[in-house]
Amino acid sequence: MGYQVIIPAAGSGRRMGAGQNKLLLKVAGAPIIVHTLRVFESDSDCKRIILAVKPEEREEFERLVKEAGFKKIGAYVQGGGERQDSVREGLSATDGDGVVVIHDGARPFVTADLIKRVVQTAETWGAAIAAVPVKDTIKKVISDQVKETVNRESLWAAQTPQAFRRDLIIRAHQWALENKRTATDDASLVEAMGEAVRIVQGDDRNIKITTRNDLLMAEFIIKTEMRENANAHRTRV
Ligand code: CTP
Ligand code: MG
Repeated sequence: MGYQVIIPAAGSGRRMGAGQNKLLLKVAGAPIIVHTLRVFESDSDCKRIILAVKPEEREEFERLVKEAGFKKIGAYVQGGGERQDSVREGLSATDGDGVVVIHDGARPFVTADLIKRVVQTAETWGAAIAAVPVKDTIKKVISDQVKETVNRESLWAAQTPQAFRRDLIIRAHQWALENKRTATDDASLVEAMGEAVRIVQGDDRNIKITTRNDLLMAEFIIKTEMRENANAHRTRV
């Protein structure tokens, strides 16, 4: 065990429509990125956090990290135009030959348990991602017309964390750069090279905060978790 994590945090939050990086928006009194970082800061298996940020936002992120007292940020790297560019920059700051975890700053509800299962699976198989079975009936639509109802049985929605042997994920990103391949997650690049990626059962609560509505969901999840923790504490004492 023992992993380093890259957290891409250099997006612009276009779909949130807040006119600023959504990770700086507050949920339950703290910026989203602070919630996400806290999970890794508290996880004893996490050795080092590499944060990809926009140059003009670096000071702001550094200030938040200092205020929260986080000690594991080993490097800030310059986020790029696309998420993939931000992760690739992050990879250049990794070292050693353990497993590298990649986790979106916009998923604050990841748990140490889920991270552990993804890391362990990647240690055995080389590449692993958290994913959940799709619940909706999925239609393929072109120009407002249904072309096909896709069989749901084999459909999973990919989440982060995603974990990879370091040499494999570096190779995948290099390959993507040379072949001009782009993808919205890192496992896709590994898959495109023909390498196996294993699934780990993710968590419905591990949402990616993308739209305004997700902010409401996030408030609700945090309140629920605080209540659950308080109850667990009461039963212990
Ligand atoms: N991200 C990044 N660099 C980019 C784009 C995205 O580091 N050039 C990060 C985001 O900060 C986020 C994660 O990748 O933590 C997932 O991206 P997404 O949810 O799409 O966030 P945004 O790109 O900010 O949102 P949008 O696509 O709506 O603009
Ligand atoms: Mg985006």
